[in-house]
Amino acid sequence: MRVVVADHPLITHKLTVLRDTRTPPPTFRQLVDELMTLLAYEATREVRVDSVEIETPVARTTGVKISEPAPLIVPILRAGLGMLDGMVKMVPTAEVGFLGMKRNEETLSPETYAERLPDDLSGRQCFVLDPMLATGGSLAAAIDFLFARGATDVTAICVLGTPEGIAAGRTGAGDRNVTLVLGALDDGLNDQAYIVPGLGDAGDRLYGTID
Ligand code: PRP
Ligand code: URA
Repeated sequence: MRVVVADHPLITHKLTVLRDTRTPPPTFRQLVDELMTLLAYEATREVRVDSVEIETPVARTTGVKISEPAPLIVPILRAGLGMLDGMVKMVPTAEVGFLGMKRNEETLSPETYAERLPDDLSGRQCFVLDPMLATGGSLAAAIDFLFARGATDVTAICVLGTPEGIAAGRTGAGDRNVTLVLGALDDGLNDQAYIVPGLGDAGDRLYGTID
């Protein structure tokens, strides 16, 4: 698994406000959207393109367009939904599939409660969106899901990650073609498996506490 930590002062600035416990949900949602747009730039470096001939008002030239089949974006519900618009803005021809996962806070294992993906992902480039890579259990399960459907190429985009999550992602990915793009690499996990310093519960900060 290839790991890229996006290193840019704008990202660090926005992350600082995002982490702040005083930041209210409307600002938090706006910042996640903006961070996704910045991370998309890094995450789509290897997006597949075909060359096309076009005519400008001045001359004929060669450019590129995103290849078919279109990339598949997969937000992991709930929190990954906060990143969806920012990614779709950057890759408007992409299609979107959904995975709903909830980490069981006792066992820390992810439980999949929803899935709406094409049956056949052969040849598809997949982009998984989840703001938090904590133990890495949810990401490893999502990667397995997509490769089981035939994906050959998965890029995961997370706002924050931990060394533990990266290690679990590497084990889960094995020798499959997986790239992880992070906005920041945090110190680790606390005794409740929350990211430290982190930003708290991303789903709750985006959408409110439901349990
Ligand atoms: C959060 C987060 C990830 C997962 C990360 O989701 O959005 O999906 O936890 O933890 P892990 O790396 O230890 O698996 P959560 O289960 O809180 O669900 P939510 O998005 O619905 O709030
Ligand atoms: N899920 C979150 O939303 N935050 C964490 O810090 C860990 C898991």
